[in-house]
Amino acid sequence: MPPMKRNLTRLTLATLMVAGTLAPAPLFAKPAMSNNEAGTMDSAGWMRPDPKMDRFIADLMAKMTIDEKVGQLSLLTSDWDSTGPTIRQGYQDDIRKGRIGSIFNAFTAKYTRELQRLAVEETRLKIPLLFGYDVIHGHRTIFPISLGESASWDLKAIEKAARISATEASAEGIHWTFAPMVDVARDPRWGRMSEGAGEDVYLGSKIAVARVRGFQGDDLKRVDTILATAKHFAAYGAAQAGRDYHTVDISERTLRDVYLPPFKAAADAGAATFMTSFNEYDGVPASGSHYLLTDVLRKKWGFKGFVVTDYTSINEMVPHGYSRDLKQAGEQAINAGVDMDLQGAVFMDHLAKSVAEGKVDVKRVDEAVKAILEMKYRLGLFDDPYRYSDEAREKATVYRPDFLEAAREVARKSIVLLKNKGNALPLAASAKSIAVIGPLGNSKEDMIGSWSAAGDRKERPVTLLEGMQARAPKGTTVAYAQGAGYQFADAGKRDGFAEAIALAQKSDVIIAAMGEHWNMTGEAASRTSLDLPGNQQALLEELKKTGKPIILVLMSGRPNSIEWADANVDAILEAWYPGTMGGHAIADVLYGDYNPSGKLPVTFPRNVGQVPIYYDMKNTGRPIKPEDPNAKYVSRYLDTPNTPLYPFGYGLSYTSFAYSPVTLDKAKIRPGEKLTASVTVTNSGARDGEEVVQLYVRDLVGSVTRPVKELKGFEKISLKKGEKRTIRFTLTDADLAFTRQDMSWGSEPGQFKLWVGPSSAEGSEAAFELTE
Ligand code: NOJ
Repeated sequence: MPPMKRNLTRLTLATLMVAGTLAPAPLFAKPAMSNNEAGTMDSAGWMRPDPKMDRFIADLMAKMTIDEKVGQLSLLTSDWDSTGPTIRQGYQDDIRKGRIGSIFNAFTAKYTRELQRLAVEETRLKIPLLFGYDVIHGHRTIFPISLGESASWDLKAIEKAARISATEASAEGIHWTFAPMVDVARDPRWGRMSEGAGEDVYLGSKIAVARVRGFQGDDLKRVDTILATAKHFAAYGAAQAGRDYHTVDISERTLRDVYLPPFKAAADAGAATFMTSFNEYDGVPASGSHYLLTDVLRKKWGFKGFVVTDYTSINEMVPHGYSRDLKQAGEQAINAGVDMDLQGAVFMDHLAKSVAEGKVDVKRVDEAVKAILEMKYRLGLFDDPYRYSDEAREKATVYRPDFLEAAREVARKSIVLLKNKGNALPLAASAKSIAVIGPLGNSKEDMIGSWSAAGDRKERPVTLLEGMQARAPKGTTVAYAQGAGYQFADAGKRDGFAEAIALAQKSDVIIAAMGEHWNMTGEAASRTSLDLPGNQQALLEELKKTGKPIILVLMSGRPNSIEWADANVDAILEAWYPGTMGGHAIADVLYGDYNPSGKLPVTFPRNVGQVPIYYDMKNTGRPIKPEDPNAKYVSRYLDTPNTPLYPFGYGLSYTSFAYSPVTLDKAKIRPGEKLTASVTVTNSGARDGEEVVQLYVRDLVGSVTRPVKELKGFEKISLKKGEKRTIRFTLTDADLAFTRQDMSWGSEPGQFKLWVGPSSAEGSEAAFELTE
């Protein structure tokens, strides 16, 4: 029987970016089948017409009763994992009775085979089950949390992580992952920021595509590919005050310009399924939103897969105050465009009656059933329902050494060097005694973060201490003292301080491993403070008094307020939750075996009062006056600057990169014409390294106000010391499109500024004009 119930977490994938990246495709144009910018894969291949499949499904559906049809629209959890409130037991019996067509939170070849047998041997029509799971950032081998992976800005690496996750999950019977989470997130109080790609529309869209491709590969018939889910549709990241599941109230323009593009990109890349969000949009819960699910997703974007709800989100339309009872909620959901009810048992209990009463047209039920059966067919389950449940393949696949190596590689790429005063890092050979101090220094369970699927949390994860001990040169001692606690209840305690201070005093350097318990981010993990929880800050201040160099290694799933640390410690690394091989990856960076190359996918505020703060904000009519920081009657705080602690796109390296001034091949472009921006980047430091070269644009005057900067391209390059390379970005008017005052999508003629540089706050500037 099942391993113990566990809690949450999840994952992703990527693509080689070439110079000249493109903006997300127009939101409201029909998606072209070939909208794969890198052009190397055809992950939307499943959309191709298949007359044989159509005949097979039509024959099958002709035999189905309404109850059997409703069964295909119902998805329940097994008791192997818990990812929400438990409301229904007895799923085996439901399978036998044909009351459910899909199961989630069940895995291993053996267990999925056992459950599949119930469906294909004990039900009348023998329709195979579809097995779903939250495979978010790894299945067994766990990669950094999704926000961390995104900090790599390395689309190939992200795609590879998703590919490996799919390979492991599919070997354990999983057909379908509830990932990628493509919600733009701009409020770090919201714990689910950790599950996505951060605050940016453009970066988020590229990463969405990479992850869909990684999970689905180029052919769903391959036994190592799984269906992807773009979630949570839509605008879940805009929860008011960062409180999970809270109300969303944003304009239609913000929905279109900020929250929808990553979903559109995922749909264009062929994401097979979409998951609705818990929140309302414009007063209508997403699971009841005909506008989102039918008008936008199906009609405007041409989505051909199926839509699943989030966990009991149909039921939740009752407390939302949108439905008077569950039966009405089910009718509203299916009529809006929901195909599958996740865990709510609302369709199961009420839909047949609603059809009989004429409240739901059976044609809508048939559409939903067809979309789901098609996916089962395309996965090859009607040929062999057990093809994913193969114990020999499972044994040969999970925790493969090359997967673990890839997890280490992605983890080191995800680490961001935030500060490095006096080249405190990499560690010098003279550091003969190293003190690892802090609650995250030797904690296996924290390394893999939340949504860690079937990943082992107890034995396998390599801690920071273990990584350092394995790497430290002979003759160097690495010792550990926890010193502080990271639970809220630890605030004010000092019990571990003396031991930690004593260790620090006799050591050459302190590595302070601090941050948040893994369960403080992810679902239902909102905070009102971004401070280091517990008594960590107090310990850090005591450690400072020892006069020893302090390297702060942060592990968390959101930006923390570390203004004090920025002013007082020697170096800071943001390591997120780095995954199964995290300790090795951090040691690789601390010792300089890997030169850090991560860049922040999210702005780090100075304190929580600045939230929401993101780089592509609007200017206001009374912007601050840099020449007069104390000016009155301008848009500023009295007690904190407007600027963040660390801006989006920021991250240091052990080498330095010099940028030439950016040059443009022309000063004006007409619609359809290409503009090329070129910059030469030189590795001007003493080590080989990687840099993420970023292109930002500002539309100076619009029919509606425009952000002060928007990312429109990036390229991650590797340069040997002394090497230089010219990077070229190509833009057209399509890259400058937005939702205009009349709500149409397109660009507007006028003046633009453009910057190319190492972050959203730096870069050399040029100007151009878009003419009529
Ligand atoms: C609720 C979460 O919001 C969603 O992301 C997840 O996929 C489902 N539970 C299933 O575990």
